[in-house]
Amino acid sequence: MGFRDRLQAKMSKHGGVVGLAKAAVRKAGGGSPETGSPAPAAQSLPALPKQAASDGFVAVGHSVKLSSATAMQVVQGEEAVAIFRTEKGLRAISNVCTHEDGPLGEGEVKDCVVACPYHDWRFDLSTGECLSHPGREVATFAVRESDGFVWLGSKTREGSGERGGAHDDGMEVLVKDLDAES
Ligand code: FES
Repeated sequence: MGFRDRLQAKMSKHGGVVGLAKAAVRKAGGGSPETGSPAPAAQSLPALPKQAASDGFVAVGHSVKLSSATAMQVVQGEEAVAIFRTEKGLRAISNVCTHEDGPLGEGEVKDCVVACPYHDWRFDLSTGECLSHPGREVATFAVRESDGFVWLGSKTREGSGERGGAHDDGMEVLVKDLDAES
């Protein structure tokens, strides 16, 4: 079973919402929720609306649980999605890296760009573009918040289906060096 299958299975087991992966976010700004301040601690929260909105958006989490330091990782239908609170507002992209399926929701974010935690490929959270390897974009989704909930809409861009390619974190070199020493 590949990483993507394991991720999907884990998320399905938890009813679609895996939870909030702690991301080490280096943010440029601060202040209000719009500019990326951590959200206040959740108290007693209402249940998520079960019905989709009239325009098709689905409530996938509580606004207070989505801070600038934390990506919300959810599964909606067949899609694993990571939702980020950035200095530009909410952004939603595929949670599956187009290199080797790393969980982008666990990556570091800076200036609306996430770095995959596995090998550091970088993705623009607004466009899905892979900045380190053009042509390997991830899917993007419409997202908004209202009434205390985070709402996920439809896909706004398809992601690349390709996988594999260069590692950008030096691990291949390191592994070769270790092999040579043994
Ligand atoms: S899996 Fe994302 S960079 Fe390798």
